[in-house]
Amino acid sequence: MRQFESKDDKGLHACLGNHDLVRYWDFAPCKNIQETRGWVRALAKTIQPYSAIAWAVADIQNDECIGMINYHHREAHSRRLEIGYILQADYHGRGLMTEAVQQMMTHCVDQLKTRRIAAIIHPDNDPSIRLATRLGFKLEGGPLRDYWRVGDRFMSPMLYSFIAV
Ligand SMILES: CC(C)(COP(=O)(O)OP(=O)(O)OC[C@H]1O[C@@H](n2cnc3c(N)ncnc32)[C@H](O)[C@@H]1OP(=O)(O)O)[C@@H](O)C(=O)NCCC(=O)NCCS
Repeated sequence: MRQFESKDDKGLHACLGNHDLVRYWDFAPCKNIQETRGWVRALAKTIQPYSAIAWAVADIQNDECIGMINYHHREAHSRRLEIGYILQADYHGRGLMTEAVQQMMTHCVDQLKTRRIAAIIHPDNDPSIRLATRLGFKLEGGPLRDYWRVGDRFMSPMLYSFIAV
């Protein structure tokens, strides 16, 4: 996991440009690599850890971007934040994102003194629900009605959370 760099455009586009992968995401798929480049530029600047951070998940063999992990909506006073993650389809099923999310959680708890980590997940997003549950997230409630707007559609995800004790 490392900061985004301009060379990550293709790797991130394999995530954000893939309609299947962003089916349960709160943004529409990127239409072309130029649009993804805009995201890479923005994500590379999220080095202010107060409210949000995004890291590239990179293949340790060649440093190519294979995914993204982030936290956002951090509210430092109440020691809470939300996390998000996405991984290129070719890398699914190996436990890589479970490991990355675990590292992110350790960073948030140990470095930022976060107590509550939320994951907002579409009820049909089984791999994401399995991942969160594996790491100790509990279903708190939902559906959060029309919580996400994607284009002209609204989606109603579920609320999961992890409490660090
Ligand atoms: C969510 C997402 C990252 C999960 O991907 P994933 O490959 O299932 O997750 P991991 O990389 O942690 O791999 C875990 C899987 O690998 C398997 N696995 C294989 N070898 C493993 C190993 N050595 N260690 C751990 N798990 C291993 C696990 O059993 C698990 O499979 P299962 O869930 O079918 O039991 C992926 O589906 C994705 O990018 N989705 C699109 C974006 C998205 O929806 N993000 C979430 C928004 S809320």
